[in-house]
Amino acid sequence: MSKPKIFLTRRWPAAVQTYLSARYDVTLNERDAPPAPEELRAAMRTYDAVCPTVTDKLTADILEDGAGGVKIVGNYGVGVSHIDLEACKRHGIVVTNTPDVLTEPTADIAVMLMLMIARGAGAGEREVRSGLWPGWGPMRNLGSEVTGRTLGLIGFGRIGQATARKAQRGFGMRIIYSSRRPAAAQIEAQTGASHCASLEQLLSESDFVSLHCPGGTQNRHLIDARRLAQMKPGAFLINTARGEVVDERALAQALRDRTIAGAALDVYEHEPRIAAELLSLENLVLLPHLGSATLETRTAMGMRVARNLDSFFSGATPADRVA
Ligand code: 8YV
Repeated sequence: MSKPKIFLTRRWPAAVQTYLSARYDVTLNERDAPPAPEELRAAMRTYDAVCPTVTDKLTADILEDGAGGVKIVGNYGVGVSHIDLEACKRHGIVVTNTPDVLTEPTADIAVMLMLMIARGAGAGEREVRSGLWPGWGPMRNLGSEVTGRTLGLIGFGRIGQATARKAQRGFGMRIIYSSRRPAAAQIEAQTGASHCASLEQLLSESDFVSLHCPGGTQNRHLIDARRLAQMKPGAFLINTARGEVVDERALAQALRDRTIAGAALDVYEHEPRIAAELLSLENLVLLPHLGSATLETRTAMGMRVARNLDSFFSGATPADRVA
């Protein structure tokens, strides 16, 4: 029997490529840059499985063209807002993701961003590198305390909960969260987090607001000018979720006007393009989508995709099926 044909849209860690190559007829995009829409379209028709990343938009029309060809989209990543899940369902294409394995490193980045923006790490590093640091001074480079402050989490799934644990155990923070429904009492006890009745309440009580909700149309611009104005003037916004959750134009305005004290972002509305008005702001930390970026995690993500493909091609339902 011939091996299923699978397409990886990027290079993956060697250990995963070796594993997959032993079991499947693997083609990978050696250029290691996001394939053009036409290439994705062709891949949908040619392969049994297509394995995209966050940079590959699988829109309804691309999936439409692939109908009858591709059987499974094995996403390399937990977020799936770049894939039109409804279109996949219509065409009987199974979709899987990679939860769990990137929870801790992504929560680490959320905590790091919180520390970086509160303590002026980005601006301070720029000052040192530019040769403009005049030296230590009692009133220079003053930041805000993190320990003991209130952290508000918007979205309380795996990554939100891991962030809560780290912030509570590491920095004695008070944790509040908003989500569609309150978490189980046991999870609240483990994380020390309490549910907030409304988003407005969370925004008005938090010193740090950290986003952990899914992206996509449902949460597009959830944080807009109105919500930013509901935050405390001394508060900071942290985003490790998806860029589209924040209206970047409104954020830039709020940072210029000091409606909030600062923001720290790992994700952007139009990655890898960053709005020019953000680049010049000193009260903003910008990272290049580092959430899951460790070799261990990227390998574990690949093996999770492999496990899903193995289940699917052996006739079972993949554990991480999302559509
Ligand atoms: C991934 C992420 O590296 O898994 C996610 O949803 O945001 C990232 O950390 C990326 O999505 C790879 O596709």
